[in-house]
Amino acid sequence: FTTDTYPEIKRDPRFAQITKEHVAFFRELLGKDSALVDGVTADVSLEDMEPYNGDWMRKYRGHCKLVLKPGSTEEVSKILKYCNDNMLAVVPQGGNTGLVGGSIPVFDEIVVNTSRMNKIRFFDEVSGVLVADAGVILEVADQFLAEKGYIFPLDLGAKGSCHIGGNVATNAGGLRLLRYGSLHGTVLGIEAVLPDGTIVDDLGRLRKNNTGYDLKQLFIGGEGTIGMITAVSIHCPQRPKAVNVAYLGAESYEQLQQAFREAKNHLSEILSAFEMMDSYSQDLVYKVRQNKRLLEGEYPFYCLIETSGSNPTHDSEKLEAFLDQLMTEGIVSDGVVAQDETQIKSMWAQREGVPECLGHWGGVYKYDVSIPLSDLYRLVDETRERIEKAGLKGDTDEFPVVEVAGYGHMGDSNLHLNVAVRRYDKRVEEVLEPFVYEWISKVNGSISAEHGLGIAKKNYIGFSRSETMINLMKQIKALYDPNGIMNPYKYL
Ligand code: FAD
Ligand code: MLT
Ligand code: ZN
Repeated sequence: FTTDTYPEIKRDPRFAQITKEHVAFFRELLGKDSALVDGVTADVSLEDMEPYNGDWMRKYRGHCKLVLKPGSTEEVSKILKYCNDNMLAVVPQGGNTGLVGGSIPVFDEIVVNTSRMNKIRFFDEVSGVLVADAGVILEVADQFLAEKGYIFPLDLGAKGSCHIGGNVATNAGGLRLLRYGSLHGTVLGIEAVLPDGTIVDDLGRLRKNNTGYDLKQLFIGGEGTIGMITAVSIHCPQRPKAVNVAYLGAESYEQLQQAFREAKNHLSEILSAFEMMDSYSQDLVYKVRQNKRLLEGEYPFYCLIETSGSNPTHDSEKLEAFLDQLMTEGIVSDGVVAQDETQIKSMWAQREGVPECLGHWGGVYKYDVSIPLSDLYRLVDETRERIEKAGLKGDTDEFPVVEVAGYGHMGDSNLHLNVAVRRYDKRVEEVLEPFVYEWISKVNGSISAEHGLGIAKKNYIGFSRSETMINLMKQIKALYDPNGIMNPYKYL
């Protein structure tokens, strides 16, 4: 299903080809066999390279022949310095769950993967400050914190594979941003390596620190374009003792907006997630997983509401009163509250399972966008109309569009517009782009809410950022990475 998505990009001739001598240097540095996947001097099959060269959506394809897995910050420093001195291009890679092609090489860039940098370095049980290597898997960090009564302030469907360094590099938003805020606020410090090997030691543990420019912010959402994050210091909140989840059905998007308004009003400090799913996204999950519907009836819209607090009785009472009001006033048509942990899990699975089920037919065009709430769902309706008008919806290779679906983090005005297809097809792409980006620009939205730019959105940044802003960004890139070896062909 992989497309030759960007045939217009040519390999930058300034970058050197990897030689046996380069490989020998890295072999000497990293030692153990497990630290190196080498398709240059060793007889490594394409299959061995596949996890590093391919993405989750089968959309992007790299041609990397060398994967390095450093075990320490010092090793990262030596790797990057050598690459910079020898003009070898580099792609930092964490769990490779990114959705914009950022972690996949375009040509033969060297992948520097963080999976061996997986130690928790420090935790303070009083302040909740965690310091950990970039390659710690998000779920592992959260399980460590759970034992101490704390929670990682970010959660997302890919938690079992993504690395916290990758999360910070993408500035991932996730399911509870509404409650715990953005990584720009929760990350207290960063350790990173610049292309010339300099170790940026800004691994502070303070919540307040107004001494000069806050340079770590450049690495949060920097997508590996100015340096490689090797460790993160992050402020973690107390793990809530009481968690409740409700799953509701509504007749219209307007009613979901009313429900959100009421949720903020009545659940206020205990509201921890407000997720929106349209019927198309939910029907796909039922179809693929063949699971029992959570509600008896079928509705055009659904939402998942979560509360997190410290007093189960108080929280349940609040939630019941809120739901009563929604039902009495006819704001929602039906709803169910999870009675135990298993039901909480199955409600979340009905939401978190959407991305995987959308990919079931082969491919998916994904648009992760910020839109003012009042306009948010209109984009899905208008996109569906365009696809239908173009006659691309059907059941065959000739008519490859399976479904147009909308879901996302409504509490953060973040829509995920997805078009599931049997195969990637230029005709579908032409109906969608630049239409989606122009539409978003007109309503002053953002073409990337939480997934980043990667290679997918590199050409469209001008729809959300002014010429002046883009030029300032280019100056920063040139300052930190004058040779341009860090994640080339992407971002800007
Ligand atoms: P990768 O995919 O490996 O890398 C992502 C980018 O960061 C690349 O540009 C890479 O070069 C760079 N990078 C990686 N590690 C480093 C490092 N140490 N230093 C510098 N640069 C680095 N995103 C959300 O925001 N919210 C969601 O709710 C969400 N849900 C998801 C659900 C699923 C099922 C999937 C597959 C993805 C989801 N994502 C979501 C997208 C993705 O951004 C996150 O999964 C995660 O933040 C990526 O982490 P990773 O370790 O896999 O990074
Ligand atoms: C989500 O919210 O499920 C993720 O961002 C992944 C996606 O957009 O599909
Ligand atoms: Zn999301």
